[in-house]
Amino acid sequence: IQTYKIVILPGDGVGPEVTAAARDVLNVIADFYGHRFEFSEHLIGGAAIDATGDPLPPETVEACLASHGVLLGAVGGPKWEGGKRRPEEGLLNIRKAMGLFANLRPLQVSPVMAHRSPLKKEIVEGVDLIVFRELTGGVYFGEKVRTDTMASDLCVYSVEEIERVTRAAFRIALQRRGKVTSVDKANVMETSRLWREVVTRIHAEEFPQVQLEHALVDSMAMHLIRKPREYDVILTENMFGDILSDEISVLGGSIGLLPSASLGSGGPGLFEPIHGSAPDIAGRDLANPVGTILSAAMLLRHGLGLDDEASSIEAAVAAVLAAGATTADLGGELGTRAAGEAIIDAIRAIHWAAAHRVQ
Ligand code: NAD
Ligand code: IPM
Ligand code: MN
Repeated sequence: IQTYKIVILPGDGVGPEVTAAARDVLNVIADFYGHRFEFSEHLIGGAAIDATGDPLPPETVEACLASHGVLLGAVGGPKWEGGKRRPEEGLLNIRKAMGLFANLRPLQVSPVMAHRSPLKKEIVEGVDLIVFRELTGGVYFGEKVRTDTMASDLCVYSVEEIERVTRAAFRIALQRRGKVTSVDKANVMETSRLWREVVTRIHAEEFPQVQLEHALVDSMAMHLIRKPREYDVILTENMFGDILSDEISVLGGSIGLLPSASLGSGGPGLFEPIHGSAPDIAGRDLANPVGTILSAAMLLRHGLGLDDEASSIEAAVAAVLAAGATTADLGGELGTRAAGEAIIDAIRAIHWAAAHRVQ
């Protein structure tokens, strides 16, 4: 019986609530499929600042690097604003320390969920895209300067950083509908002009069978709302990917639904919902746990190679959402815990049906 070491980083705000729900789901999967998941929880973000003064204690980094995969809730909140250390530093530094340069943020809008979006059903129904965000470069990691009278954030990309994330995005496109939309601001930014050159060259030399188009980020923000079904893989730099991924969450009806996988070249990955610590609803059993539970499914698939296990979580989530058993963000009445339990019940039902060959 194989043992997988899974590190859980609950973090702040709703983080502990949504990771607890996902952990319960993973325990049920372990029972059904005969795996052993060895969980250990570690400090990150504001919780780590409070306990140690450091948003990313060294022992957290060690545990993550020695694991098979990391599941993170969220970091940040008003409590730590204006302090010397920021919770967000912890998240940025663990991404960097684990070498996680590619962040995958998939979104599918099924016909039964399409009416949950504030956009028209016919616009969002059938959306199936993935934001492929560069995660360890750009303006997030360039030199920062602050004096009394000015501030600056440097945006830097090397050819090698663009090449590796581009190759990863083209490979994913080959397993999907074969289309990549590379998003930049090449009419203004030098990093974007380099980005566009490198993506164009990698496409021509290594992936000519993929359909490639370039888009400027401002008009892309508009097209994503107008005709989101046209997109397959959206490849972009760190900051644009951050912004566009919150935008696409509206197509699915709630930011609470979207998972993500952050991957490097080998080594463990980090899996987290795209939302933040949601201070406005934290500690009240109101947060939607689905984004974190789907992140746990991505951990199983991309991190541990457990495809069937991941698919059974995804099928259970789809069934529960289709039945309208949702948290308040989607108009339902369930709390975080009850929503997690509904998904666990659905996993049990799916397995019972499979074991008894019920169609
Ligand atoms: P947020 O994503 O936390 O919340 C935005 C809105 O979406 C809020 O109204 C919130 O209630 C709602 N929401 C978010 N997740 C939800 C869920 N699971 N279920 C239901 N509703 C949900 O963004 P924000 O308010 O701008 O940021 C709050 C804090 O979180 C900040 O400190 C920010 O830095 C941090 N943050 C962390 C991460 C992360 O850890 N990966 C991501 C984004 C923001
Ligand atoms: C995200 C968040 C983070 C980011 C913040 C909290 C540092 O917004 O994961 O989307 O900007 O990457
Ligand atoms: Mn974000």
